[in-house]
Amino acid sequence: MNIAVLTSGGDAPGMNAAIRAVVRSGESYGHKVFGIKDGYQGLLTNQLIRLTHRSVSGFLAKGGTFLGTARVPEFKNKEVQLQAINNLKKHKIDALIVIGGDGTYRGAQALVDHGFPCIGIPGTIDNDIAGTDFTLGFHTAVETIVDAIDKLRDTSQSHRRCSIVETMGRKSGDLALYAGICGGAEFIITPENPVDKKGMFKTLRAHKETGRRHAIIVITENILNVHDLAEEITKETEFSARATILGYIQRGGSPCPEDRILGSRMGTYAIELLNDGIIGVGVGVRDSRMIHLPLNHILEAKRPRNEMYELVKKVS
Ligand code: ADP
Ligand code: F6P
Repeated sequence: MNIAVLTSGGDAPGMNAAIRAVVRSGESYGHKVFGIKDGYQGLLTNQLIRLTHRSVSGFLAKGGTFLGTARVPEFKNKEVQLQAINNLKKHKIDALIVIGGDGTYRGAQALVDHGFPCIGIPGTIDNDIAGTDFTLGFHTAVETIVDAIDKLRDTSQSHRRCSIVETMGRKSGDLALYAGICGGAEFIITPENPVDKKGMFKTLRAHKETGRRHAIIVITENILNVHDLAEEITKETEFSARATILGYIQRGGSPCPEDRILGSRMGTYAIELLNDGIIGVGVGVRDSRMIHLPLNHILEAKRPRNEMYELVKKVS
């Protein structure tokens, strides 16, 4: 087969490991693999490059995606999707593997609906895709956030302050939840775990009275203005509060071992599915085993509330 691979949406550490695995395992089964530059954009502008065992050498430890990525809003239009399929056919591509988040999966589902074989690999730091315990890039981003929380705690403790740390995650609280637990946060505020501000201020006042020197609040983006929250805490409690928005630093960096392994497993598994004629599915890892589910099921399903929220109450 001629197999194409692209990365789309927000980049995530581990995407390169997945591309490398697609290329190397693909070659081992006798397939030819092509990389498409800049996500769905490259499909529309015919930016295809032949990838070989050698050409993916040295990328395993690199963050980002060497193929590039893009957000291409016009890909929601049927004519644009049909154009992409024409281009794929022109280059004699038999199947497409997309690596990205739920938007990317929607694009792939559209191509499948128009009759073009696609497989999805979940690549996003947000960990917001159903059908997998973990997405590529999540573990590395958690490490980056925990490192930042540890540093913020040093200065927060020295000044007897409260630190508010805003993470990415779009509509998913997993980054804040995992990093908050690892960083010993007093409060973790996420879309799945909303804030009771009055209760939080009361607890912070009580913490001050018992002599605690600092407090850490980890919060998912898009919930509230963290600088306003810092002002409110400073006014309502004895803590002077400061907010830090971590931003794009969370998306970069060399993938941690979990993401290198996950990328290698997912890329190889996607090729094995194609070998077996299985298409229109997204790959995932569940209880350490590789699984696959139809893309449309993945897009319709909701991730269950993470049971670690109960842990937060007990250990914070
Ligand atoms: P992610 O894949 O990380 O969720 P986006 O939501 O930006 O990131 O989606 C990546 C790309 O997928 C978009 O720029 C667009 O090209 C394509 N896409 C998103 N939603 C759809 C849709 N409903 N139909 C077709 N393509 C889509
Ligand atoms: O989807 C990954 C993500 O990093 C989100 O956490 C964040 O909200 C978004 O992408 C930022 O996207 P952009 O790069 O378009 O600003």
